[in-house]
Amino acid sequence: MVVEGCRLPVKMSILPNEEEEWPLAEILSRKEEKGKLEFYVHYIDFNKRLDEWVLPDRLRVEELQFPKKDQKTPQKQNSSAANSRPTTPDRELQLSKKLSLPEQSSPAAKLGGQGQTPQSQTKSNAGRKRKAIFLDEKQDLPPAYCNSLLSQDSQDAPATPQPSAPPQQPRQTGSMSSSHDENIITRIKNMETIELGKYRIKPWYFSPYPPELTTISIVYICEFCLKYVKSRKCLERHRTKCTLRHPPGNEIYRKSTISFFEIDGRKNKMYSQNLCLLAKLFLDHKTLYYDTDPFLFYVMTEYDIKGFHIVGFFSKEKESTEDYNVACILTLPPYQRKGYGKLLIEFSYELSKFEGKTGSPEKPLSDLGLLSYRSYWSQTILEILVNLKPENGERPQITINEICELTSIRKEDVISTLQHLNLINYYKGQYIITLSQESIDTHNRAMAKRKIRIDAKCLHWTPKDWAKRGKW
Ligand code: ACO
Ligand code: ZN
Repeated sequence: MVVEGCRLPVKMSILPNEEEEWPLAEILSRKEEKGKLEFYVHYIDFNKRLDEWVLPDRLRVEELQFPKKDQKTPQKQNSSAANSRPTTPDRELQLSKKLSLPEQSSPAAKLGGQGQTPQSQTKSNAGRKRKAIFLDEKQDLPPAYCNSLLSQDSQDAPATPQPSAPPQQPRQTGSMSSSHDENIITRIKNMETIELGKYRIKPWYFSPYPPELTTISIVYICEFCLKYVKSRKCLERHRTKCTLRHPPGNEIYRKSTISFFEIDGRKNKMYSQNLCLLAKLFLDHKTLYYDTDPFLFYVMTEYDIKGFHIVGFFSKEKESTEDYNVACILTLPPYQRKGYGKLLIEFSYELSKFEGKTGSPEKPLSDLGLLSYRSYWSQTILEILVNLKPENGERPQITINEICELTSIRKEDVISTLQHLNLINYYKGQYIITLSQESIDTHNRAMAKRKIRIDAKCLHWTPKDWAKRGKW
């Protein structure tokens, strides 16, 4: 009998290759609909976004493993003892690598860790070393700092009251705090499809939308105020009343069709909560909290004649004791893998530059978050190193602190990136960075592909000192 907690090979709907066609999966739940039995499975070594409902014909029952005696089985609601283990994103990335991943992306390295791939090691050892830069920890540059001009305040989105929100919980950190969710209910995707503007999107994870919306096949979301309704008719009715054609808040950046809006989680509570609910559909490792007051939300949009369409966003604590400059970051799936994630990250560091601070994303990072940050950090740091000019015929010198000040990337992240790229070598008593012509060429090719960039001249923003304001 196949019950919750059992493990067995299950045929995956995405088939990476022969040997992974039937990966080991765990039964998380079962249901019977119209006389048909279905099982909700989690593929053991894959990211939870691949979890799915399957029919019995996809289960290899002859290899069924029952839960071990000392293994706790998943509990129904309110359990904290579900039989859960951390998902390993690497496998899915290996999987997507086979399908479409660029060669170099390896999420295996932990932040601050050694993080060298064997490939990068051999490359740099054998590579033709052309550019050496000395790391000099002696002098520091003044921090990059500038102020901008414009700031207006705006009203809350005219959204009507929403169906019952889940109870408020104390915030730990971040707009969504780090989650080690063992509850079987929240481990199962609860929404089938959402329609947002012109896109129909399949959610990746659980999000605490009202239960009455989880039984319908498509939930319609107003792309401008993010209110959710149960039918197209309701959405049409809503659209006759909803005047928004852009997110609420101040438009603080515009270049070509890309804009950024700054939204205060206290002033635009309804919008911010709806944004968090939407984001949770694609963020697994965070639990959603309803207190949006301590956060600012930076929503990136793309403009056409119909309005400013949401592409992605990041949230940021008004005051972060740990100097986080991003709490949560998301590119909506239809826009992913087109460079928007890096644009959001670049924007977050641009804000930090305006603040005269270094910053770092809130931990833990998701698998895709780590890949994107690694890629951004690598390109940003390499861009500086590649463009360093020799002084008086000497090899160029730069300190780690200077790199931090130029980029607003936190020191630990700079160091881990240099280590990850395997660029640091110890030579005649000092650390030097050695760049091979090959890595310079690879970097230049990657930068040529980065078509959309943040233009600091288009940012009209003055950082606020929230600590001095007394209240958020
Ligand atoms: N597989 C492999 N590589 C990927 C993938 C993927 N599915 N997605 C992005 N990447 C790589 C890209 O190849 C690129 O690197 P490259 O330019 O060196 O090739 C880099 O990551 C960034 O790609 P973008 O196109 O700029 O990023 P995207 O718009 O896809 O957004 C993001 C990245 C925001 C992480 C997106 O995947 C997302 O929203 N994921 C769901 C939510 C999430 O996990 N957010 C991060 C949580 S951590 C935190 O909030 C602090
Ligand atoms: Zn609306």
